[in-house]
Amino acid sequence: MAIREIRVFGDPVLRTVCDPVTTIDDGVRAHVQDLLDTVDMEGRAGLASTQIGHTLRAFSLNIDGEISYILNPEIIALEGEPVLTGEGCLSVPDLWFEVPRYPRATVRGIDLDGEPVEISGEGLMAQALQHECDHLDGKLYLSRLDRETRGEAMRQIRSSSWF
Ligand code: NI
Repeated sequence: MAIREIRVFGDPVLRTVCDPVTTIDDGVRAHVQDLLDTVDMEGRAGLASTQIGHTLRAFSLNIDGEISYILNPEIIALEGEPVLTGEGCLSVPDLWFEVPRYPRATVRGIDLDGEPVEISGEGLMAQALQHECDHLDGKLYLSRLDRETRGEAMRQIRSSSWF
């Protein structure tokens, strides 16, 4: 369908709690295609609906060369101890901060046929699953930074050319 423009920090849609997908219609299918098309670029690991201006519970992933998506994802397992991990977000361009993330995560949801799907993984996949699920609850990774780091992040955001 289309590569959509990425909404950036300050856009209220990024703070919106997304609605579950209840009816899988052409609109939902088109939106998923936009998620898949827009995440399919070098340097993009995941993309949530809000980042392209929608508020459906859906995200796409681009991990190890594989593009995927899930609707109505819920985290069903987080394993190991949280580890500080360097992280960025397409909606907070050019900035990277260390966020505590579980090393292994599993998400359950449905696909476009309404069939149950699970996505699970370690490392970057685990990190992306946690990051994208947060987006669907209207949260950016900045909210997971400690107070001092968040202050520094806000200073850097305010002096960013894109803000
Ligand atoms: Ni993000």
